[in-house]
Amino acid sequence: MNDLIKKAQQLHSLTLEEIIYLLQQKNNEEELAQAADIIRQKYVGDGIHLRGLIEFSNICRQNCLYCGLRRDNKKIERYRLNDQMIVEMAKKAKNYGYKTVVLQSGEDVFFTAGMLADIVKKIKEMDLAVTLSIGERSFEEYEILKKAGADRFLLRIETTDEKLYDKMDPGMSFINRRRCLADLKKLNYEVGTGCLVGLPGQSMESLANDILFFQQIDADMIGIGPLIPNEDTPLAKVKSGDFSLTRKMVALIRLLLPEANIPATTAMETLQPNARTIILCSGANVVMPNVTEGDYRRKYALYPGKICVADTPEQCRSCMGNKISSIGRYISTDKGFRQRNI
Ligand code: 5AD
Ligand code: SF4
Ligand code: FES
Repeated sequence: MNDLIKKAQQLHSLTLEEIIYLLQQKNNEEELAQAADIIRQKYVGDGIHLRGLIEFSNICRQNCLYCGLRRDNKKIERYRLNDQMIVEMAKKAKNYGYKTVVLQSGEDVFFTAGMLADIVKKIKEMDLAVTLSIGERSFEEYEILKKAGADRFLLRIETTDEKLYDKMDPGMSFINRRRCLADLKKLNYEVGTGCLVGLPGQSMESLANDILFFQQIDADMIGIGPLIPNEDTPLAKVKSGDFSLTRKMVALIRLLLPEANIPATTAMETLQPNARTIILCSGANVVMPNVTEGDYRRKYALYPGKICVADTPEQCRSCMGNKISSIGRYISTDKGFRQRNI
């Protein structure tokens, strides 16, 4: 085995230069994936955690250049679910056997922290773990939500290249995003972050730095997805993020953060059918099946070609069950908190 991969497997530590080298090297994708699969098995086991995703509002005050929910996109039909509908979807998620629901939205400030806290409290009564993915808020708002019972928070850093970040997310700042992640850690959330692969102008060095950043902030969950160009955004004409580079990122992240939860992301499957199964065998241990009902899941259009838009929550549940048994793994029956044994 390549010495650097062996080192990563044993020490869970590589230098910036070593990560760049492994990302750049051709023909090491399978070797990295296999090494990561062994580490995944050793540290987080064969159970796959399913998190039921509720996309409760596609209204966003931000204007990220890559995203279909950006405020300048007049082509999408906007929607907002009411609290009753959200709680109802969570109840159904519970019935499908999910142990966690993820409440995801654009940055929709119509939902005050107080309103969201009431929703979180109702869902917590069902003995579910609650993950929020609602974007940037103040320390005080995050605190209200934590007190209401929210367990986890997802906020991708998107890229640690500060200049690129500020260009891709106009009006937002890398510094504030890092502040949010630090606040969430301080408040004892399990913190999920991650990055996009394939942003225009993104270098291998910046991807390597992204991985070091995940280690530095001790991320509990790391979601990596390829950029999928969206016709209705300023990045309509860019190329999609590369599948094999994204897969190598996932594998390296498992090697360097052995106890983290790592999802096989939906965007991967847009690039290639069966991508999630491949990624689950390359270091990942989490999937987030969509439990949003009806036409809303189509309208939550971050990028085109999103999978499952015509499927029901039941179909996604059984589809994932089949995929997971086809690779000899099983659906975890616990809430899937981040491991801390080393
Ligand atoms: N392609 C892939 N992922 C995207 N996201 C937003 N737009 C796109 C796109 N065009 C991702 C961002 C965000 C997450 C919710 O969706 O990384 O954090
Ligand atoms: Fe809004 Fe998030 Fe899309 Fe940016 S990536 S436009 S913050 S939904
Ligand atoms: Fe939705 Fe496969 S996960 S149909």
